[in-house]
Amino acid sequence: MAPPAKPTDERSGLPAPPRHVAIIMDGNGRWARERGLPRALGHRQGVEAVRRAVRAAIELKITYLTIFSFSSENWNRPIDEIDDLMGLMKRFIRRDLAELHDAGVCIRVIGQRSHVDSELMTLIDEAVELTRKNSKLTLVIAFNYGSRTEIAVAARKLAEQVASGKLDPSEITVECMADALDTSGIPDPDLLIRTSGEMRLSNFLLWQTAYSEFVFLDCYWPDFDKSAFDGAIAEFRSRERRFGGLTKRSMA
Ligand code: IPE
Ligand code: IPE
Ligand code: MG
Repeated sequence: MAPPAKPTDERSGLPAPPRHVAIIMDGNGRWARERGLPRALGHRQGVEAVRRAVRAAIELKITYLTIFSFSSENWNRPIDEIDDLMGLMKRFIRRDLAELHDAGVCIRVIGQRSHVDSELMTLIDEAVELTRKNSKLTLVIAFNYGSRTEIAVAARKLAEQVASGKLDPSEITVECMADALDTSGIPDPDLLIRTSGEMRLSNFLLWQTAYSEFVFLDCYWPDFDKSAFDGAIAEFRSRERRFGGLTKRSMA
């Protein structure tokens, strides 16, 4: 398991800048509706915002950026919209992979492989393999992802190890649960951003956000830009992270 985040920057005494930012990219549909456009166009503009977010994360020296791009519950949407979203994911990988690789981005994907068409799965596997050794920014794409399933699958893996005699129940710790999750080896998000004004997690990173700071932005995802990102980071840096303990500020 990755070491826990430090609450403050040791030299400046300010909250440390976030190492890992996770984003629930929400509001594509409303962005389109307000313009009298089809939802598909909102999703297309959403991809532009992803490109801006990746560039900004590199500029801001963030080392992990996790984006929620398709939830396990999004299969409940109309089939045409699902097809649009799958098509956009394929196009994003085909068009942007070389540039992401050149920029030193390592791509990781979390979520279930089931139901995803094989052509897309092949593209995802190739992107992950090509960028495996890059270390400037790890872009974690949560695709066909749902946190409850992730946790249930992790519990099943550990239970199987117990059943086969490889693991004793007393050895099941927070660390070994964390290592059994899709996010194994990735530090917990310091900052979670959700756009579009909704204030819920929608089954995203339930385990990993135990001590994340949450920033909810009113802008719709297609309008997300560097200044919105800077604003969220500034808000994060004004927070006091206590991790259940006390800080100098809280004792003054
Ligand atoms: C986020 O925008 C994209 C996905 C969930 C895939 P939405 O499509 O949820 O947009 P709204 O919430 O309907 O505005
Ligand atoms: C969460 O947004 C999923 C993604 C951003 C991919 P939703 O729009 O699906 O969430 P709910 O349905 O409003 O909770
Ligand atoms: Mg939504």
